[in-house]
Amino acid sequence: MNKNTKQKLINLLKKSSKHSHYQILPSQLVQYFEDKDYLPTGKVDSERLLFVIKNINLKNKTILDIGGNTGFFTFESINSEAKHVTYIEGNEEHANFAMKLTKILKLTKQISIKNQYFNFTQKRYDEKFNVCFLLNVLHHVGDDFNSGLKNIGVAKEKIIKYLNNSSSFCDILIFQLGFNWQGNVHKPLFKNGTKKEMIDFIKKGTKNHWNIKTIGIAEIENGDLVYNKLNKNNINRNDEIGEFKNRPIFIMKKINV
Ligand SMILES: C[S@@+](CC[C@H](N)C(=O)[O-])C[C@H]1O[C@@H](n2cnc3c(N)ncnc32)[C@H](O)[C@@H]1O
Repeated sequence: MNKNTKQKLINLLKKSSKHSHYQILPSQLVQYFEDKDYLPTGKVDSERLLFVIKNINLKNKTILDIGGNTGFFTFESINSEAKHVTYIEGNEEHANFAMKLTKILKLTKQISIKNQYFNFTQKRYDEKFNVCFLLNVLHHVGDDFNSGLKNIGVAKEKIIKYLNNSSSFCDILIFQLGFNWQGNVHKPLFKNGTKKEMIDFIKKGTKNHWNIKTIGIAEIENGDLVYNKLNKNNINRNDEIGEFKNRPIFIMKKINV
């Protein structure tokens, strides 16, 4: 990669937005970049990915990545031999970055980049996908998209509705939700902020559309963070690792697939 191209990518990565400096770089870029070029906070992206690919074979699958940010899960899906990824991202700079990288890596046949806010209210989508990543987007309802929601109760209704709508275009859903509406600690979605409350809420609300196949829970093992399957011990809220790492990863299969 020449210096000029690299600088263009860095400039796009550094454009600040509410969700900038979020994901680490996809592995295709790691060799070209140093910490001084770009240092994201990182959201245990590799660890999240590892849990996903341990539980779903992405090979030959068609993928939808909603709220793809800087493309970590999109590009890593291609590394896991997915057939095609449709990346959708509302933020212009993030989408421009993903578009540029797709061209640099000559992946324009395997990746479609769409710079738009996904319309979750639609019950149908013109394409169908084997696997959909919907990670850490829906608690931003009323903020990043669908502005003007009255209160947390309405937001929670929408989250369930949008999840259920997704079963019309997606067979397997990989889903994560924040504990706070719009990421605001003063707007907790659940009274005690526990994983159990979130899991019960998702299970109950989606039971006619989705089967929850597996739930991943972050734990520290020998100093490393790993996502293990949910069990009676790791379900407890762990304040030492912070809010993000307490968010379960749901792997859900559409009913009747
Ligand atoms: C909190 S980040 C999560 C990024 C990524 N999914 C992950 O978990 O690593 C949310 C991302 O979704 C984007 N976003 C929010 N609402 C969206 C929508 N309706 N359609 C597409 N992108 C959206 C934001 O711009 C941001 O990049």
